[in-house]
Amino acid sequence: MVNNKKLRILFVASEAAPFAKAGGLGDVVYSLSLSLKKLGQDARIMLPRYASIDPKKVKMKMELRGLKVPTDQPGDYPFLICNVKKSQEENKTVIPTYFLENMEYYEKRANVYGYSDDHIRWILLCRGVLEFLKFSNWKPNIIVASDWQTGLIPNYLKTTYEKDPVLSKIGIIFAIHNLQYQGMCDFKFVQESERDSGKEPIPDFFNPRLAKLNWILRGVIYSDIVTTVSPTYSKEILTPEYSEGLDKIFNENRGKIFGILNGIDYEENNPEKSPHLPIKYDIKNLGKRKENKIFLQKKFGLPENGKNFLLTIISRLTDQKGIELLEQIIDSLFKNLPIQLICLGDGESRYKEMLKKASEKFPDKIRYLFEFDPQLPHLMFGGADALLMPSKFEPCGITQIQAMRYGCVPIVRKTGGLSDTVQDFNPLKNEGDGFVFVNYEPLDLLIAIARAYTCYNFTAQWKQLIKRVMKKDFSWKKSAKEYLAIFQQLSQKKNP
Ligand code: GLC
Repeated sequence: MVNNKKLRILFVASEAAPFAKAGGLGDVVYSLSLSLKKLGQDARIMLPRYASIDPKKVKMKMELRGLKVPTDQPGDYPFLICNVKKSQEENKTVIPTYFLENMEYYEKRANVYGYSDDHIRWILLCRGVLEFLKFSNWKPNIIVASDWQTGLIPNYLKTTYEKDPVLSKIGIIFAIHNLQYQGMCDFKFVQESERDSGKEPIPDFFNPRLAKLNWILRGVIYSDIVTTVSPTYSKEILTPEYSEGLDKIFNENRGKIFGILNGIDYEENNPEKSPHLPIKYDIKNLGKRKENKIFLQKKFGLPENGKNFLLTIISRLTDQKGIELLEQIIDSLFKNLPIQLICLGDGESRYKEMLKKASEKFPDKIRYLFEFDPQLPHLMFGGADALLMPSKFEPCGITQIQAMRYGCVPIVRKTGGLSDTVQDFNPLKNEGDGFVFVNYEPLDLLIAIARAYTCYNFTAQWKQLIKRVMKKDFSWKKSAKEYLAIFQQLSQKKNP
């Protein structure tokens, strides 16, 4: 039950749109905060100010200058000095956002991830947030810490700051978007006897032991509640197949784990209005999608033909995304079927090489762009017939939800959030809204694509399918209320 008490909720993450975004996490942090705000809550965000967040372009005001963040190192660097700035209302974003500034660890770094001292950058964020809140006039009832980079916030709250009169009153949620990344030293790289138990005190910032901690494990152990981004994934992580070595800890904590499906912003993803779509359309004039398809084919240098079955992949090119399945069938698929594929995303060179070669072999059928582009996907969803997402695992997946909003039919593997959002097409009953395969096998993917291609050729059935796809509702409305109910219960428990 959602009651009327307005909660103050602080999301802490390494990414948040529109300021810093490398994947789905950045989108979710922003769009969930926005939905909570629409439900009348005071939601805010805190993240580092990376070099890419330019104060000349993003209006911000100094909130706290010279914050001394203790490092626990007795030697030369007992503190790291930070500033906290706050976004100003006239910015495009309507969520108040705090930026943690530190010259060495954030302002000089152009990228969000990928530095050898990332563990120092993230411990500074974890502790910097808590130190800031001691001084800030605004105190949250709830902190939502997302993914491993913030896994030490729960740990600090329940140890170092356990008796702090202000901080000890805050309810702490640990939100898992992706388990594969657990710190600088994921469990899969460590022998069982050397794995972090989570019980040792957090070492000082510059102690090499810091890089050995499992930050996800600590986030789970010390938080009040753990959330994951889909109901199915919250069950999958209890099994060795999906837990990345953490099933024991998840099973011990299963009573506090909740799976809530991600949503998307229905205003930003809107085929009737998207500024990134040359031809707008809605469910009543689906014929217009063809014009977007031709535009898209032209943009990627493919022969322009509205009749061709056009597939798209919009994804990080990593193991998680099942690109290896495609690798094994790509030749037979494109040799035998008159279909086209366009691919957008950056990632591992092995997969880029594979797609490059395939494109050389089938220049009229396969094209790619190895970039992260936040705008181009709207055109791709609006013009392509089907989206390929054969993930090995998928905590939720945002792309298939966006694709569905635009009537781009998803072809997915039955795992995690994909399983919660796409129902397999049944030609006899004319039901379902995508093509789903179960086993992580290349042949299974091939069959799913062939089924989709067959259905595409039955124009009337395909049109009905698109309509069903577009009618699905994955806006944040429902999920944001589920989060709020959990936050309210926790806040009440913390402040009876
Ligand atoms: C991660 C997951 C993805 C999820 C996203 C946002 O990127 O891999 O499945 O949708 O986080 O929660």
